[in-house]
Amino acid sequence: MPDPDVDPERLRDFQRDGYLVLPDFKSAPEVAALRQRAHELVDAFEPGAQAAVFSSVQPERLADAALIASAEAMHGFFEEEAFGADGLLRQPKALSINKIGHALHELDPVCDAFSHGPALAAVAAALGLQQPQLWQSMLIFKQPGIGGEVRWHQDASFFDTAPQTVTTFWFALEDATRANGCLWVQPGGHRTPLRERFVRDGDRLQMEVLDPTPWPGGADALALEVTAGTLVCFHGLLPHYSAPNRSPQSRLAYTLHVTDGRAAYSPRNWLQRQRLPLRGFV
Ligand code: FE2
Repeated sequence: MPDPDVDPERLRDFQRDGYLVLPDFKSAPEVAALRQRAHELVDAFEPGAQAAVFSSVQPERLADAALIASAEAMHGFFEEEAFGADGLLRQPKALSINKIGHALHELDPVCDAFSHGPALAAVAAALGLQQPQLWQSMLIFKQPGIGGEVRWHQDASFFDTAPQTVTTFWFALEDATRANGCLWVQPGGHRTPLRERFVRDGDRLQMEVLDPTPWPGGADALALEVTAGTLVCFHGLLPHYSAPNRSPQSRLAYTLHVTDGRAAYSPRNWLQRQRLPLRGFV
């Protein structure tokens, strides 16, 4: 049954623009519960213990090993500007985390509840995902003052399927504005080619360049300023980015990356499941 929020006109918008904004998709209590859980997960995160886990890995491969292991775990990643020249955090841990990923929706009960249910299943069905498979979840913190830029990219670079099916479900857990680093998209840009592919080769991860089409210029970009509780769905080929957060307001978001099980998921994708079974929205 299609969700009443996704009427045929909105679907035409998605097909034309490559994205869809659904305000108030999540209730204030649902958003508050996940926001609180995000802060609890940061409190519980021990970077020292994690470093020990990866101590057997060559230093230059440490980041790759951590990312590969995070596919089926809950792993914290710090902001690039979090550490001073002395190697110590410049501000408290809770204000230094960049993101936590990538199996929150499998391993944490609060994230699991937020990530599943008939309303999300209906949106996925309306967008044409007949067999949704939830590969990854992330809490993205975009910290006040140091939250870094995420350069222009397409999410299909990270979740290649044939045919292309990956769809991003991006939830604002706090108001997202130009000042605190909201999403920017190129409306209609989902009709441009896939420029890059992030692939795993053994224990190495690398970005391959596929197509020289330039990233959008400023005039092509549209800021998606949205309120907490909004769901933004976008096509895997839609170019998007977010600016640094130089404001005093954090910009917490939660994302899911979902493919259609009818499409072939590339064995070269960085994220592979070994242990956890793949699930849909229900
Ligand atoms: Fe993205």
